[in-house]
Amino acid sequence: MALNPEQIDMNKIVSLCKRRGFVFPSSDIYGGLGSTWDYGPLGVELKRNVKEQWWKSVVHRRDDMVGLDAAILMHPRTWEASGHAEGFTDPLVECKECHLRFREDHMEGIDKCPECGGEFTEARLFNLMLKTFLGPVEDSANQVWMRPETAQGIFVNFQNVVVSTRRKLPFGIAQIGKAFRNEITPGNFVFRTREFEQMEIEYFVKPGTDEEWHKKWLDDRMKWYKDLGIRPENLRIREHEGDELAHYAKSCYDIEYKFPWGWSELEGIANRTDFDLKQHQEYSSQDMTYFDDEAHEHYIPYVIEPSGGADRATLAFLVDSYDEEGGPDSKDARTVLHLSPSIAPIKVAVLPLSRNAKLVPKAREVYASIRKYFSCQFDDAQSIGRRYRRQDEIGTPIAVTVDFKTIEEDDSVTIRDRDSMDQTRVHINDLIAALRDKLE
Ligand code: GAP
Repeated sequence: MALNPEQIDMNKIVSLCKRRGFVFPSSDIYGGLGSTWDYGPLGVELKRNVKEQWWKSVVHRRDDMVGLDAAILMHPRTWEASGHAEGFTDPLVECKECHLRFREDHMEGIDKCPECGGEFTEARLFNLMLKTFLGPVEDSANQVWMRPETAQGIFVNFQNVVVSTRRKLPFGIAQIGKAFRNEITPGNFVFRTREFEQMEIEYFVKPGTDEEWHKKWLDDRMKWYKDLGIRPENLRIREHEGDELAHYAKSCYDIEYKFPWGWSELEGIANRTDFDLKQHQEYSSQDMTYFDDEAHEHYIPYVIEPSGGADRATLAFLVDSYDEEGGPDSKDARTVLHLSPSIAPIKVAVLPLSRNAKLVPKAREVYASIRKYFSCQFDDAQSIGRRYRRQDEIGTPIAVTVDFKTIEEDDSVTIRDRDSMDQTRVHINDLIAALRDKLE
């Protein structure tokens, strides 16, 4: 059983992530770059597994969904149509002395700069989109935005997908990709960064059926987090108040996770109505209607948008699985990630009992036979107890140990379960089936 997130010191998670190669500060050798992070050898596997589980659940296992991978850079008109050029802003106050800027809503009741005591300017709107230039000339004609949400790549391709796949409503388009926001107050590790990855769905429905689909998606998405191991008591749904709704949304529910610093958004599930397609129809002068051949009418579909973050989900899975067992003085103390086998970066560790000249080749043979099927790690450095602890700390669900009984008696190996630490023996011929049984 993992720890309650409130009992977890985030510094321990950050330090485990660096020590074991899950997440490193970006550009570490130059002192890092504020709130940007790199996923290391284990982190990239974990995050890929999270994205893969999402893709399987929302694309491969459904008949009403297809995928897309749109470009990050889009025609600047996109952002005029979507309302981001005008409305994707935070009101900021600036210190007249040191020129640091702060979000106005974070400075309520504070009338002097926390850094130098200087006076604040009046609040001004600051656009959160990052810009860059295409081509060699840095002028406004060549300026483009780094997309602040992947959603618009889906909206602008709506007709391409309808025509090329002959989809009928209701159907959805899923996309995983990077998004960028010049956040004023990034922080809490990979929770809020300026470059991040979104996992977004735009689900197109007949107007009038939108509320029913909104509810269905909320249930589906909650189930996904729970099925992958997040404890239900650490998840909740919060409806947006009218004044927090994004400019495009009629209603929105957040799935929140109880992070160590408090309840925070994991995923937003919004009813975007026909806002985006209508806007793109107006700004591009292209027809964005759908022909409903049962009702014999053209209309612009409504959209339900489940929009999650791959980094936030990965962090929630790390936090929710983190455990410290035994007191600091106990010889049995261990740190464990109780990750669901489907997202664990390494599924099976193959360990010879010791670095014995007969055990090691046999263990390598076992390793070679199973690595085709599962992501595996071979480890023969240090004592077997330490190697078990190392695998527990990175969340490896199963350790297979080759010992003297294997080579001298009956070709059986032990299978050790990460959570219960129980060990059972299986014949090498039955190993793959036994691992499948435990992992799938
Ligand atoms: N298309 C809708 C949209 O972008 P959002 O609530 O602004 O809605 C959706 O973002 C999800 O993207 C969030 O629930 C979160 O998981 C992730 N996200 C947003 N901003 C982020 C940031 N600065 N860092 C990491 N993840 C972020």
